[in-house]
Amino acid sequence: MELHKPKGKLGVLIPGMGAVASTFISGIEAIKQGLGKPVGSMTQMGTIRLGKRTENRTPLVKDFVPLADLEDLVFTGWDINPENLHEICVRSGVLDRDLVNTLKPQLEKINVLKAVFDKQYVRRLSGDWVKTGKNKMDLAEQVDTDIQTFIKENNTESNVMVWCGSTEIYMKPSEVHSSLSKFEKGLVDSDPKISPSMIYAYAALKLGIPFANGSPNLAVDIPALQELALKTGTPIAGKDYKTGQTLIKTIIAPGLKARQIGIKGWFSTNILGNRDGEVLDDPDAFKTKEESKLGALDYILQPELYPDMYGDLYHKVRINYYPPRGDNKEGWDNIDIFGWLGYPMQIKIDFLCRDSILAAPIVLDLVLFLDLAKRAGMKGIQEWLSFYFKSPMTLPELYPEHDLFVQLAKLKNTLRHFMGEELITHLGLDYYED
Ligand SMILES: NC(=O)c1ccc[n+]([C@@H]2O[C@H](COP(=O)([O-])OP(=O)(O)OC[C@H]3O[C@@H](n4cnc5c(N)ncnc54)[C@H](O)[C@@H]3O)[C@@H](O)[C@H]2O)c1
Repeated sequence: MELHKPKGKLGVLIPGMGAVASTFISGIEAIKQGLGKPVGSMTQMGTIRLGKRTENRTPLVKDFVPLADLEDLVFTGWDINPENLHEICVRSGVLDRDLVNTLKPQLEKINVLKAVFDKQYVRRLSGDWVKTGKNKMDLAEQVDTDIQTFIKENNTESNVMVWCGSTEIYMKPSEVHSSLSKFEKGLVDSDPKISPSMIYAYAALKLGIPFANGSPNLAVDIPALQELALKTGTPIAGKDYKTGQTLIKTIIAPGLKARQIGIKGWFSTNILGNRDGEVLDDPDAFKTKEESKLGALDYILQPELYPDMYGDLYHKVRINYYPPRGDNKEGWDNIDIFGWLGYPMQIKIDFLCRDSILAAPIVLDLVLFLDLAKRAGMKGIQEWLSFYFKSPMTLPELYPEHDLFVQLAKLKNTLRHFMGEELITHLGLDYYED
């Protein structure tokens, strides 16, 4: 299939208009006005090597694959309080007040729609800007109506939904998630195992709108919604944006393993004071996040293959809600490593990071790449987007790839594949043959 540059508007539909969503949208407005650069975004800043190293063909990713332009993005979203985006930016306190006020004319035009929300799934929050309906199917239909109205008003050519809502309580896939027909019956019966993130996702996928899950809750990571995605030819991706501490972990751990350095313990702790931190203060929401954060090391280090080096690794992750820090989190890592003859050493990392600043470019890339994937005829789980997630979704028979550099190679090769370019293996023996 030949891919062409999209012509019309690309609608970005966001359940959860909090710190990440507002930093993303106001960032796009700032970039459009020349007030900042899209740092951290592979689609905007990254390049891709094509052909042999002697060919010197290294275009920008955005010049290589036909992505939507930032000028063509239009936004809407849902949340539990009737605020506009300017108010959300001020409350979130991520961006400088001067910048937020400069962008006020654009931001205050974006109002949030009434949410599908139930406190049962996010216990630390309450709000009354919430839809009511006779059952969960009715709520899904109301989201569908919101989307159709947005499409009509903005005349969008294509759309992508990105979950930027809070982390829901820990849930395991169960019977009602096992097939589309059971799930649809569950919606009519308002089955408690169907959470709000699944309801938004259902509405989007029915319309063939790609869905990315920025948080660690299940959402589209269930067979029923994967079935729907395949049925409607829709790409899906998740889970949980790989920012901050886990990003650093998936940079450092593959490096240590590559050099066969042993690891005895990895203690990670965080303090953060934003609304996300408040939600994660609930043990059931933290459990969802903890599972997502713990997975990476096991998959990268493969203790079953390297019992001497990683078999006894003690891995602990803590998140502490500490309001004075707001969105400016601090993450400490203490890594107990060992080398030749088992001699111990330590690595300490103190990362003073800004969560939403790291997450915003991920949202942008996912929107543009999922739209590209849809136009390329891809459907179901998009494993090549694992690069962006703490807990990448895969087919059940596969294990997820967590190593950032393997993920990057996979992503770039997928782009080459879309455009009919040769894949790069890094073998390179042919250079030396003559
Ligand atoms: N910031 C990061 O670096 C980062 C990294 C990985 C994952 N995440 C995840 O991204 C999500 C957003 O993070 P944030 O910092 O913007 O949090 P936030 O608390 O500022 O924003 C989340 C918003 O979602 C809203 N919400 C909750 N349930 C909803 C529902 N059912 N419908 C509509 N809105 C709903 C909340 O009211 C809140 O405004 C969280 O799940 C977080 O765990 C963030």
